[in-house]
Amino acid sequence: MKIREQMNIVVVGHVDHGKSTVIGRLLADTGSLPSGKLEQVKVSCERNARPFEYAFLLDALKDEQAQGITIDTARCFFKTKKRDYIIIDAPGHVEFLKNMVSGAARAEAALLVIDAHEGIRENSRRHGYLIAMLGIPQVVVLVNKMDLVKFDQKVFESIATDYGSFLKQLGVSAKEFIPISARDGDNLAFASDKMKWYDGKTVLDHVDAFVKQQDDDAKPFRMPVQDVYKFTEKDDERRIITGTIETGTVAVGDDVTFLPSYKKSKISTIEGFNSPEVKTIGKGHATGFTLANELYLPRGEIMCKSKERHPMVGSRFRANIFWMARAPMIKNKKYKLKIASARVTVRLAEVLSCIDATDLSSIQGRQQIDRHDVAECILETTRAIAFDTIDDIQFTGRFVIVDNYDIAGGGIITHAINENDNAINRQINKRELHWDTGIVTPADRQSVFGHKAKFIVITGAEQSIALAKHLESSLVKSAKNAYFIGPSSLADGLDSDVVNETDNREEMMRRLGELARILTDAGLLFITALGDADTYDLQLLAGLTSPNEFIHVSIGGHEDGASANKIIISEKLNLSAMVVAIIGRLSQQEILLDYAI
Ligand code: GTP
Ligand code: MG
Repeated sequence: MKIREQMNIVVVGHVDHGKSTVIGRLLADTGSLPSGKLEQVKVSCERNARPFEYAFLLDALKDEQAQGITIDTARCFFKTKKRDYIIIDAPGHVEFLKNMVSGAARAEAALLVIDAHEGIRENSRRHGYLIAMLGIPQVVVLVNKMDLVKFDQKVFESIATDYGSFLKQLGVSAKEFIPISARDGDNLAFASDKMKWYDGKTVLDHVDAFVKQQDDDAKPFRMPVQDVYKFTEKDDERRIITGTIETGTVAVGDDVTFLPSYKKSKISTIEGFNSPEVKTIGKGHATGFTLANELYLPRGEIMCKSKERHPMVGSRFRANIFWMARAPMIKNKKYKLKIASARVTVRLAEVLSCIDATDLSSIQGRQQIDRHDVAECILETTRAIAFDTIDDIQFTGRFVIVDNYDIAGGGIITHAINENDNAINRQINKRELHWDTGIVTPADRQSVFGHKAKFIVITGAEQSIALAKHLESSLVKSAKNAYFIGPSSLADGLDSDVVNETDNREEMMRRLGELARILTDAGLLFITALGDADTYDLQLLAGLTSPNEFIHVSIGGHEDGASANKIIISEKLNLSAMVVAIIGRLSQQEILLDYAI
């Protein structure tokens, strides 16, 4: 049996402009009401001597639903030949926004109702704004109560022109206007004979013409890495990378890239849990993979296919946030951002615009985001994350913000933005501006020590620490000014105040980088080993060491991108051979001057 397609539509509009009547009509005219419901409501109206309203149908349905199951938002359903619809009547904006940003409800299209007689009201504009903020891609504007303006084409056109240019300003492009009389059913399910001048689609035709977001199966492959397990058998060095596939499909033999680290490999096997072996797997499956080479992968990476469009990687992006916590979101405070399986520290960098969700009034010049505000803002994470924009892939375009273990807000990513202007670069610029150098120049030190200063970071296999120590020893034996420190040496000293914090990595990296800036300034060959460092750790460390120099020694070279500052050495060599290889390269690059091995 073919599963029928489903689409979520939200109906918004100023008070009394006719939202509920439109919905009631759609339910009635498509035959989606429970049998006898329409008659029952009509009879009850007659009995109470009040005129029948299509809007009453919703109340009648609500009562019925409330007796059975609990209803989260005002939702109802109707069917056309083409597909099933879930209509979200959005009377309580707060509830609706909460559901939208948390992902509980997702409107794929919006119907915006404007009363032809009353014209565009403040809420009509706010709702347009809301639709733009939430990234709802398709909108149809229903100019309702045309009977009250004698079905006058001019009234319709003036509203369409005014409101059309307003929506355009907001960047909402997919918009159409339909003149209707919801009460009488004109242009709802059937073309009206009272507005012959209108030859466009009816509301129902339009709703059926809404484009379903590209099916997730057809989208690029995305799997947030949840965990990495080692096989338990002795001598079995393989690891299983696990997670749930959110979009796309993947097959054994596919080249894959992990972001934000840019580590690459190839899929060797797909490991089902108690299920027969498969060669290809797709969206919705919780699964595991073994790879052709072993990677150190922190949780939070997104696995994607090397040949497909990648998620964006960056630490600054534009987002629309809905804030729910009592305490406002303020600038320069650290929050935790959860996106897919990643968790990073995030700061509010800028508030671009803000509306109060309780009355949808817009607030100018806001520097913080208060409870129940919807804000368009710029967020900055301390570490780069991999993400997609909301209009591309929902799952990786949506996040929540945690403050003190509570979910404080949620949001969607609308754009990536310029990388260079981020907090860490600003801090480095400030530091360099105030750096007070002595009389001794780097060249002076170089000629005395017989080498340049460098921060050398060794990554890769488990022997990276041992290699770093051997390198130090070899250099010192030939009278070079080398010094090794391992991350564990800092834990109870330099990092003692942050070591027990969750997600302390960024801060520990920052301190290590600052230490490197100082020790390279002292002319040292400063060496450390970070088995699991990724591209972003390394970029951060290189940035913090600057203007002094940084070099990355990779055992095996499994991270992406060879660069001028990278030495790759084979993992097959023994330690002394590795040391010789590194020293050879350092001499070649004239970092070590007159070195005799
Ligand atoms: P709220 O939920 O209170 O914000 O209102 P709403 O937007 O759901 O409006 P509703 O559908 O309840 O309609 C408000 C009033 O407008 C009702 O009295 C309807 O009968 C009336 N109305 C709706 N559509 C039409 C129409 O096409 N013509 C006329 N003349 N009245 C209409
Ligand atoms: Mg209503």
